[in-house]
Amino acid sequence: MSAAVAISGKTRLYGVIGHPVTHTLSPQLHNTGFNALGLEAVYLPFPVHPDQLQNAVRGMVALGVCGFNVTVPHKSAILPLLDEVSPLAQRIGAVNTVRISDGKLLGTNTDAPGFLRSLAPLDLELRGLRVGLLGAGGSARALLAGLSESGAAQIFVCNRTSERVVALISSLQPFAPETEMVAVSLSALAAQPLELLVNTTTVGMDGVSAPADLERFREVRNVVDIIYRPPQTPLLAQAQRLGVPHLNGLGMLLHQGTEAFSFWTGKVAPEAEMRRALDSALQTD
Ligand code: ATR
Repeated sequence: MSAAVAISGKTRLYGVIGHPVTHTLSPQLHNTGFNALGLEAVYLPFPVHPDQLQNAVRGMVALGVCGFNVTVPHKSAILPLLDEVSPLAQRIGAVNTVRISDGKLLGTNTDAPGFLRSLAPLDLELRGLRVGLLGAGGSARALLAGLSESGAAQIFVCNRTSERVVALISSLQPFAPETEMVAVSLSALAAQPLELLVNTTTVGMDGVSAPADLERFREVRNVVDIIYRPPQTPLLAQAQRLGVPHLNGLGMLLHQGTEAFSFWTGKVAPEAEMRRALDSALQTD
C-alpha cells in the first residue's frame, strides 16, 4: 500500500472478491487513487471460495461495503446475485465491478471500456477498424463486445478450439449488426490486412511462446497483448523488432481500474498516480 490509511467510523469500504486474490494489484491501484484524492476510503482483498459467493455478496451489503471488484472465478456466477446488471455486462456475461447503493447491488463490466481507453496511445479510429482477435475466452468476449460496440467494421476471431469461436460469435453478433464477426483459422487471419491484432490468449505468459508469428501476416499495423506479466511477451518483442506499434496489457489493467474508481466515487480517477502504483507494484513483483 502506498501510504498509511487513516481508518475511522466514516471510512468507506471497497474490495475485490476472487479465489485466489493473492496476486491482485487492485488494492495498490485503488488505495493509491483514494489517497491521491484525499478520500476516506480503503480497498481490501477478500478471498472468497466459490461455495461462499452468495454469503459473501450478502455480507458485503450487510456490512455497508460501497463497492467491490469481482475476479476469477466469480465474474459470471455473480450475475444472478445482483439487482441490476448493465447491458454491456449482460452481453459479455461477466461482471467485474459492483456498486452498492441503498442496499442494491449494481453490476457492470469495466474490462471492455478499460481496454478501449488503453488503446489511446495507438491513436486508432475504432469506427471502421479491421481487427484480428486471438483467443475465445472471457477476455476475448469482453473485447469483442467492446470493439463491436465502438463500430469496428470487421473482427476476425481465431482460437485453438474453433468451436468456442463459433459459440462466441453467435452470442454477440446479434447485438452488433454493423460489425462483421468472422471465425478464422490462423492462416486465414494472417492473410487479412489488419489495423489491429490483439492477443487475449494466455500464450506468452511464460515469456517464451507466441500465439502467432507476425512475419507470416500480410499486414498488421498495431499489436496489443493484454498480458502484462511479463511486460514484453515474445509477440510484443517481435512487433518491436518489426517496427509495429504495440502495447501490453498494463493500460487495460489500469483503465479497468480507473473506470471502476469513477463508477464507485463519481470522480475522475487520478490516472497518473494509479499508473505509478501499478508500475511500482509490478517492479517488486
Ligand atoms: P480469459 O478469461 O483470461 O480469457 P480463458 O477463458 O481461460 O481466460 O481463455 C484462455 C484463452 O487462451 C483461450 O482462448 C484458450 O484457447 P482454448 O479455448 O483453445 O483453450 C487460449 N489458450 C490457452 N492456452 C493455449 C495454448 N497453449 N495455445 C493456444 N491457445 C491457448
